[in-house]
Amino acid sequence: MTSTPEETAPYGTGPAAAAPTPVRRIRTHHLREMKERGERFAMLTAYEQYAAQTFDEAGVEVLLVGDSASNNVYGNETSLPVTVDELLPLTRAVSRSVKRSLVVGDLPFGSYQRSPEQAYDTAVRFMKEGGAHCVKLEGGREMAPQIELMTRGGIPVMAHIGFTPQSEHALGGYRVQGRGDTASRILDDAHAVQDAGAFAVVMEMVPGDVAGQVTKELTIPTIGIGAGPDCDGQVLVWQDAFGLRTGKMAKFVKQYADMHGVLLEAARSYAAEVKDGSFPGPEHTF
Ligand code: KIV
Repeated sequence: MTSTPEETAPYGTGPAAAAPTPVRRIRTHHLREMKERGERFAMLTAYEQYAAQTFDEAGVEVLLVGDSASNNVYGNETSLPVTVDELLPLTRAVSRSVKRSLVVGDLPFGSYQRSPEQAYDTAVRFMKEGGAHCVKLEGGREMAPQIELMTRGGIPVMAHIGFTPQSEHALGGYRVQGRGDTASRILDDAHAVQDAGAFAVVMEMVPGDVAGQVTKELTIPTIGIGAGPDCDGQVLVWQDAFGLRTGKMAKFVKQYADMHGVLLEAARSYAAEVKDGSFPGPEHTF
């Protein structure tokens, strides 16, 4: 018996149905070459298939399956509770859904800090089970041994310095890092992660002039979030940037859309039509 399209794909077309045009995948060395040419690149978080496909199609070079899934998918207040086992299926969904973007798996709190070996083992899971192309971890100088072991073992590592949300309690809350005479700590951390072998570094909530100085001094690309316009790339959490999340936003967030408003309106119309009997109409009825 032959199946109808409705029977084979009732709720969506899935990644297998994506257009077969060959596309050149973004590799870590492409980001470095972009820095050398003075070209900026974009990074967004992504945690599932359709957002990942859309951002990939839009030309966003890097997709981060961030531990911010803790707040943006799993409903926690901070990034601390999310586990490797919770992030791996999201990483797999994103890596299966992209044709071009570089997919970064974010190592969650407690999965890499204990030792370089622990970091290596966790990163291997993100690459084997999650299909990530590389991993990200938080920390500067103190993470150099982890970065060295992973890069020696063939795992590209993106570092993350400045304000590191997993250390929120140790840092005394959400606050800009590297102001005044603590700027040298940011520079030291940036050089340490580059020397250890990181292929890029995220700088979060760092004064713009400090981030600009780091970007000038490093040969690896810098990616800013609340670090001003002089970084080589920028990253935002997509639910913040496109307005799916409502409420108070950090100063560094720009909202490009009102996804919450669009969904709210659509959901209200749907519920109203179900209640008044106008959906489903004859055109939706077999
Ligand atoms: O998990 C995340 O979303 C991040 C970005 C804020 C860089 O680490």
